[in-house]
Amino acid sequence: MDFENNSSKTDHVMTQGKSTTKSRCKIVAVDGPAASGKSSVCSAVCSKLGWNYVNTGFLYRAVAYITRQEGIDLADDSALKVLLSKFSDSLRWEPDTGKVFVGDLDITDHLYTDIAGQDASRVAKNSIVRELLLPLQRRLGTQSKYGAIVDGRDIGTVVFPDADLKVFMTASLDVRAQRRFHQLESNGQTGSQEDFDAIKASIAKRDIQDSARGEAPLKQADDALTFDTSDMNSEEAIAALVELISTKLKL
Ligand code: C5P
Repeated sequence: MDFENNSSKTDHVMTQGKSTTKSRCKIVAVDGPAASGKSSVCSAVCSKLGWNYVNTGFLYRAVAYITRQEGIDLADDSALKVLLSKFSDSLRWEPDTGKVFVGDLDITDHLYTDIAGQDASRVAKNSIVRELLLPLQRRLGTQSKYGAIVDGRDIGTVVFPDADLKVFMTASLDVRAQRRFHQLESNGQTGSQEDFDAIKASIAKRDIQDSARGEAPLKQADDALTFDTSDMNSEEAIAALVELISTKLKL
């Protein structure tokens, strides 16, 4: 499996009936299961490369939070459409601080919890939500001058099928559960064997839910490279991804 090393990709844009060709920044699509290290590794790699980092999981987490807050039934398509049409304009994400705002409201702290991940996975099964988040994800991905890493579950298969490089980042279930456990432990939030078992079960449940859904399931794109971080610490994973991107894209 190998990749083309195009110096730039082009998007065809229709303007008043005429097709124009606009070049876009480099896009690296990173997909993979929950807690595989995508967000920490990809954001650090983007800082090193001076690229934009787009974490699409935040969008699903934010929509889940807002639908819950507003009491919107996920089966109510018209209510979802109204909510999401406002959401795209009011959502703001500060790459420097990682904070997420809807209008002036900082909702960041509501997005990091395990419940938020489970809620997001439930919301992500909805085809209207996926369809309405698609243009927003593409816009965020192509905003950078040089390049962007966009991470999620369907980035290489649906959002950017023409990405310059596709990576499927994974790690064993045990390793992913250990990392999430240590993360929570360091925040003083957990500590027992039962907590670990619950975390592991929750990650496994989300893997199944994301892979089994009909709409844009979590799956490795045919032309994606597997990037297994099970035996790497975070510095090693960051260095390896920088190396992979630099080599494949001839940076
Ligand atoms: O990546 P993160 O764990 O924050 O994603 C939360 C949930 O959002 C995932 O479990 C998945 O159901 C959903 N998601 C998705 N497609 C994406 C990104 C996230 O379905 N591109």
